[in-house]
Amino acid sequence: MNIHSIKGMRDILPAETRLWQFIESAARDIFEKFGYREIRTPILEETSLFQKGIGEGTDIVNKEMYTFVDRGKRSLTMRPEGTAPIARSYLENNLAQDGFVSLYYMGPMFRSERPQKGRSRQFHQIGIEAIGSSSPYVDTSAIQMMVYLFRRLNLKDFKIKLCSLGCADDKQKLAAELRKYLSPEKNRLCDDCKVRLEKNILRTLDCKVDSCRALLRNSPKARDFLCNSCRSHYSTVKKMLGEMGTGYVEDVNMVRGLDYYTNTVFEVTHPGLGAQDAIAAGGRYDDLIKDFGGKAAGAFGFAIGVERLLMAISAEGNLVVPDNKTDVYIATTSENVRLEALKASTMLIEEGICCEMNFEERSLKSQMRQAGKKNVLFTVIFGDEELKRNEVVLRDMRTGEQANIKLDELAQKIKGGI
Ligand code: HAM
Repeated sequence: MNIHSIKGMRDILPAETRLWQFIESAARDIFEKFGYREIRTPILEETSLFQKGIGEGTDIVNKEMYTFVDRGKRSLTMRPEGTAPIARSYLENNLAQDGFVSLYYMGPMFRSERPQKGRSRQFHQIGIEAIGSSSPYVDTSAIQMMVYLFRRLNLKDFKIKLCSLGCADDKQKLAAELRKYLSPEKNRLCDDCKVRLEKNILRTLDCKVDSCRALLRNSPKARDFLCNSCRSHYSTVKKMLGEMGTGYVEDVNMVRGLDYYTNTVFEVTHPGLGAQDAIAAGGRYDDLIKDFGGKAAGAFGFAIGVERLLMAISAEGNLVVPDNKTDVYIATTSENVRLEALKASTMLIEEGICCEMNFEERSLKSQMRQAGKKNVLFTVIFGDEELKRNEVVLRDMRTGEQANIKLDELAQKIKGGI
C-alpha cells in the first residue's frame, strides 16, 4: 500500500496503549479527587478563537495552525491547544454560574511545526483549567496536583521553572522598556524579531536565534515591572510551594509562546528529552475570559505533553505497567462445537475471566501451540465426543495436567485455579 500516515502524526500501537491508558487513568483519578471534572471540546473551532485567544503575533497563530476553509466558506482551525476552546465553552455554556469551575481534558492537539524529537504535528495533552479565581492558592494547588501525578508515575528528575509576567499593565511597561532597549539594535535582530519588534515585542524574548538571545540576555526583565499586587501574588505562590515541599527554580527569562498569560507562568523540563525538553507548561490567564466578552474571571491552567511525558518516563525507566494477560484459550476440534465454545467464552468473560478463542479451521496441535505462545493459564478443548456428554477438557498449562469437566462447572474450576 502506498498510503502512509501524515508526516508528524503517528499511530499509537497496541504495545503502547497500555501505558497511555495507565497515565490517563492516573490523571483522571487524581484530578477528580481534587474536584476537577472532565470537559471535552470539539477538535475544530472557528479560527478567530485562536487568533484572539493565543494572539496574532505568536508562532502558533502565525505559522503553526492547521486552518482551512470549509464547504460553508468558514475559516476553521484544528485546535492547537485546549485553553482557548475551554474559555469559549465556559462562556457559551454559562459555566460561570457554578462560581469556581475546575476542568480537565485530554486529547489530541495539532500544530504544523517541523517534526523533531519531542515535537510532532499531532500530539496529545492532558490539561486542567481552573476558572473563576485569582487566588494564589489555585496556582499552588494546581502545581501540587501536577507534581502528585508525576509522583504517581514514578517520575523524579523533572524541574519546575517559575516566573511571573505581571498583569496587563506590567506587561505593557515591560513592552515599552523592551522597545527602548531593542529599537537601536534593530539591524542586529533576526527577520522574525524585526517584525515582532513592531507587532508583538514580548515575543522577541521567545526567540531561539543565538544572536537575538545574546542581545536579550541583558534586556529588561518582567520581574522589574511587577506592581505591588502581582509581586505579592508571586511571592505568596513561591512561599506556599516552598512550604509544601515542591522544589522550583526561578527563570527570569521565561516567556510562554501564548499571549494570554499574566502573573504566574511555569514550565516543567526533563533532562531525558533533548532540545524540546518541556513536558508540561502553564500559568495564569486572568484577562482571557474578559477579553472574550465575559465577566472578568481569574484563571489558571496547565497542559502536560503526553508524548514528552512518556519519553521522560522511559528515560527514567521506573514505571512498569503490566499488560492485560489472557487467562484462558479455547480450542475447538470441529465446526460442530464452535457455537457452544463461543457461548462458553462469552460466559467466562462475563465471569471476569480474560478469554480468547480460535475461530478458524485449524488442527488441535496448532491451536495448542497458539495457546502456548499466549502464555495462558488454561486451555479449554471443545471436542465433539466430550460435548455430547456436556463436558470439555480443561488443561492446566502450568502443570500439563488435564481433566474432563462438566461445562457448567467450567467457570468455577478456572476461577479456583487462577
Ligand atoms: P504549551 O506550552 O504550548 O501550552 O504546550 C504544553 C505542552 O504541550 C508542552 O510543554 C509540551 O509538553 C506539549 N507540546 C506542545 N507542542 C508540542 C508538539 N508540537 N509536540 C509534542 N508536544 C508538544 C499550552 O498548550 C497551554 N494551553 C497550556 C495551558 C493550559 N496554559 C494554561 N492552561
